Amino acid sequence: MAETNPQTASVGKGHDPERHLGSLKTPIYETSTFVFESAAAGKRYFEIVYGGAEPSPGEDPGYSYSRLDAPNLRVAEERLAYWEETEDALVFNAGMAAIGTLFLTLLRPGDVVIYSSPAYGGTLTLLRGLMTEIGVIARAYGPATTGDGLADLVGDDRLSMVYVETPANPTNDIYDIEMLSALATEHGAVTVVDNTFLSPVWQKPVRHGADLIVHSATKYLGGHSDLTAGVVCGRADLIERLRHTRYELGTTAQPATAWLLTRSLETLQIRVERQTATATSVAAFLAEHPKVETVSHLSLLGADDPRHDIFKRQCTGPGAMISFIVTGGEEAVFRMLDAMRVVRLAVSLGGTESLASHPWTMSHALMPAEEKTRIGVSPGLVRLSVGVESPDDLIADLGQALDRV
Ligand SMILES: Cc1ncc(COP(=O)(O)O)c(C=O)c1O
Repeated sequence: MAETNPQTASVGKGHDPERHLGSLKTPIYETSTFVFESAAAGKRYFEIVYGGAEPSPGEDPGYSYSRLDAPNLRVAEERLAYWEETEDALVFNAGMAAIGTLFLTLLRPGDVVIYSSPAYGGTLTLLRGLMTEIGVIARAYGPATTGDGLADLVGDDRLSMVYVETPANPTNDIYDIEMLSALATEHGAVTVVDNTFLSPVWQKPVRHGADLIVHSATKYLGGHSDLTAGVVCGRADLIERLRHTRYELGTTAQPATAWLLTRSLETLQIRVERQTATATSVAAFLAEHPKVETVSHLSLLGADDPRHDIFKRQCTGPGAMISFIVTGGEEAVFRMLDAMRVVRLAVSLGGTESLASHPWTMSHALMPAEEKTRIGVSPGLVRLSVGVESPDDLIADLGQALDRV
């Protein structure tokens, strides 16, 4: 019987116990290389994988070398493609390995990529650093940029990619994927969505026109702060091109990492739903707190807010990332952060444990102060990733820490 829901697919899809000595779980294939049955089988493998020969119906070329492909990767990739409702998926050894492989595959000197800012610092650094050095033209837009503003940004240049991180790290700004993908289509460009913050539980970018979806799987997909991995899901023709760059760069995930990721996908929905419910309570508490100036969590968007319409069309839940501004700036925030006992002070997000970080001095430390201020990263801003702990314990901890402000 075929599964009809990603939660069901998460616990069985892509694994046949009969092919693994009856093992309920896919064993970890810790091997760098695979033995061919015969010279002809080796030849056939490379004809298909490197030479582009079409496999006959039902033919599986198997495996040759773990930098190219491995059994644990395939199980994870099948389940991820199912979650994101895409034709195919690839797993990488970090979110930045996925994003870097994608940029190097699809962008050429003279191409224009427009990207949302703020976004994860590593993505911004890659676009403004290496990609710009090799001749790619990277131009930023913000949450307030209108359709006309986007068209002006492109002008008569060769638009090759529209890149959007929504909701954005660390401010939770949201963007209209449908509007951006319409612009990309008009120019024959691809639309790439970083879906790390909401995960496919709450947002399926392909339904809104995305061609490729990237994740730092280090976050919700991995979910336990015990692995680094990245994912790209999307159109089969594009994924095939990325697969070849992954062969060449070796940005492939390790078998044990893919195994851990597969384990984590089984509980993705349960974790994310619980974390989101808790984050909604925590956001409501913070919004009422006298030491907190503003709170950004998608559950708090009022019906009169222009972003509310995008949220309703694009997302089925508000996620578990909160950003809030504490009154009194850096000194006050440090007092709060140092007083937390349940919430841990660390970068990263999406794990079972609640983590708080200070983007001004941590993830965005390299960015000039003027730019940080312009994109909404102020000295008083705290980014909070809500875990699976009891909401009462988290609220009590944040309350006592805010008392120190
Ligand atoms: C939204 C987003 N995209 C991409 C990345 C990069 O992922 P990784 O750290 O797994 O390389 C991060 C990391 O924090 C992120 O938050």
